[in-house]
Amino acid sequence: MKTVGVIGAGQMGAGIAQVSAQAGYRVLLSDVDLARAEAGKAGIAKQLNRAVEKEKISAADRDAALANIEPVNDVSAFAPCELVIEAATEREAIKRTIFETVGKVLSSTAILASNTSSIPITRLAQASPDPARFMGVHFFNPVPVMGLIELIRGLATSDATVKAVEAYGQSLGKRIVHANDAPGFIVNRVLLPMLNEACFALGEGVATIPDIDAAVQLGLNHPMGPLTLADFIGLDTCLEICRVLFEGTGDPKFRPAPLLIKYVEAGWYGRKTGRGFYDYSGAEPVPTR
Ligand code: 3HC
Repeated sequence: MKTVGVIGAGQMGAGIAQVSAQAGYRVLLSDVDLARAEAGKAGIAKQLNRAVEKEKISAADRDAALANIEPVNDVSAFAPCELVIEAATEREAIKRTIFETVGKVLSSTAILASNTSSIPITRLAQASPDPARFMGVHFFNPVPVMGLIELIRGLATSDATVKAVEAYGQSLGKRIVHANDAPGFIVNRVLLPMLNEACFALGEGVATIPDIDAAVQLGLNHPMGPLTLADFIGLDTCLEICRVLFEGTGDPKFRPAPLLIKYVEAGWYGRKTGRGFYDYSGAEPVPTR
């Protein structure tokens, strides 16, 4: 495998493009237009420059990685790709439209993978050119730092597809885990109940935002407290995954916390909107309650 297409140049797509380029793949990067794809590449350049300053990588490695990334107008440029990873907005209708469009140019052996965090892979595969060559490849944020990739096979995914994507993931230096196509796969199935419970605890007045975060961060040795992490992931995304878990299992233990729903209804999605459980408008995040 030499050429990888990445659809979506936001936080996840840019991270996937960066680690792929650093591993030596040629990467075609697309978004809704060329300007967004170029902005994604500019963000990657910033990350790599920081790594050079910290002497984590050499200037030559940075230049080689950047030379591997080509922002493109749209997915019609993806014909040479052996693997295409979709990391677009987490909306099923958008992903389906992308798969139909990219399906028209992909070769008959190319693999299409989705970085979805919650949509069933077997269902998404129905919009792909060939469900045997379709699977989930779930990266974690920030992609260059997190050491895991979850691979999810749909009902029709072939063994050859799983093997090829596993080899790609390993070549990035990531640990691969295999999950079945069940709601939330592994990580979000385990993580979201904790984040949601922190929202219940806050809503019920158990403790303040900084105390809930400090309790988990220091008491359990997590890198971030749950409310900080929920803001980092995006409260809209957290709510969406809770709903997938709740609706997909029918189990009331996954019902979203009323306070989480309220924050999303208020448009307070976390870091990306400048406000969630914390206010990010100043130099340091400030708790909002
Ligand atoms: N991109 C690239 N590198 C980054 C980065 C980013 N956005 N943010 C931080 N880093 C790097 C830093 O450069 C630094 O690298 P170095 O050690 O080589 O110098 C290293 O990460 C540590 O960063 P900092 O010292 O600035 O800050 P922290 O030590 O607080 O670490 C963190 C930041 C890595 C984000 C850490 O807090 C963490 O691991 N948090 C938990 C993240 C997590 O749980 N992610 C999974 C979310 S769930 C998900 O993605 C699935 C989805 O479906 C919801």
